[in-house]
Amino acid sequence: MGFLDIDNTTKSYGSVEVLHNVDISVEEGEFLVLVGPSGCGKSTLLNMIAGLEEITSGEIRIKDSVMNGVHPSKRNIAMVFQSYALYPNMTVGQNITFGLEMHGTPKADREIAMRDVAKLLQIEPLLDRKPGQLSGGQRQRVAMGRALVRNPDVFLFDEPLSNLDAKLRVDMRTEIKKLHQKLGTTIVYVTHDQIEAMTLSTRIAVMNGGYVQQLGTPQEIYDSPANIFVATFMGSPAMNVLPAKVRVEDGLPHAEIILHDGSATLLPFSQENLAAWEGKEILLGIRPETITDSDGADRKSKNIAQMINRIVVTEPAGSDTFVSMQLSGKDVIARMRSDAEVRPGQDFNFAVNMEKAVAFDPQTEARIQP
Ligand SMILES: Nc1ncnc2c1ncn2[C@@H]1O[C@H](COP(=O)(O)OP(=O)(O)O)[C@@H](O)[C@H]1O
Ligand SMILES: [Mg+2]
Repeated sequence: MGFLDIDNTTKSYGSVEVLHNVDISVEEGEFLVLVGPSGCGKSTLLNMIAGLEEITSGEIRIKDSVMNGVHPSKRNIAMVFQSYALYPNMTVGQNITFGLEMHGTPKADREIAMRDVAKLLQIEPLLDRKPGQLSGGQRQRVAMGRALVRNPDVFLFDEPLSNLDAKLRVDMRTEIKKLHQKLGTTIVYVTHDQIEAMTLSTRIAVMNGGYVQQLGTPQEIYDSPANIFVATFMGSPAMNVLPAKVRVEDGLPHAEIILHDGSATLLPFSQENLAAWEGKEILLGIRPETITDSDGADRKSKNIAQMINRIVVTEPAGSDTFVSMQLSGKDVIARMRSDAEVRPGQDFNFAVNMEKAVAFDPQTEARIQP
């Protein structure tokens, strides 16, 4: 039993089911991020928690009380939307305290709560301004202030940073994380941005097509993705996925892949149970940062394989240089340190950290569990 339980919950619009048997239990103080592509059902699920959408079947509970049918104002939840939804004719201070006023909080208490929140969010100098006189980032802070002042059980955020430019988005992301560390409140946060999901969350629910594909810590999701969808959605550049054949040599399973010139090479798996796949096709998943030059290879890894392959394109990106090549007929990206000497057309000696490699069943696209 969690603090917020989403129990076997389904949502249909007419005859179309858009959320299928969602089961998530959120502990008090957790920062849960719902992430997935546009249209996968993130906002619908959040709105069901808030009470803005009806629950078709299943149950949503907060602190063990069933919320199905409970009015949004009675759920002790605060929501921050992408659009901020500030009242344009009210000052910042009035926007922040309006909800308290509606709840009948006395003026003196409202004033104290407003000052506390304004101090926390560093918006004290803005209290007498109207929303029209604020920047996007300031409006976002006010919207958060309005949510914070109510001291709710659960905060819900729906893509709160999507309207901000890239630099501000990163700053606000840090602000939100700091705020969570300081206040320890329970948060459910929706985003389509996998970096936001990784950096903010204590746990992530990766969604696609109305299904929760995987629920886990950022590390679990990144290192042990449940399937190819999760593997390629989380991480940038995306995980390389290429066909490979399993070959057992000296009793150990290897991935046989095809180099640029059509010759085959063997990369040893760390995952011994893959020997059961001898002679069969799998899909091999290797993240770009696990293909490097020899000097850049992870020193802690016990399984670094060497592979000579031709570089097609190099893309310096400041802190790193991305290198692309052909492997088993696929474009594969490697991430090198920026000082690695690489050029197009070069036959380069790559180091592949096979401890981090994962294998997928090509039929089901599920990861083959160790
Ligand atoms: N009021 C509605 N009526 C019918 N279909 C809807 C309604 N709201 C959302 N949907 C559908 O439900 C699915 C999930 O939408 P949504 O939760 O907004 O996705 P996300 O927030 O992940 O982008 C989409 O296919 C969308 O078209
Ligand atoms: Mg949405």
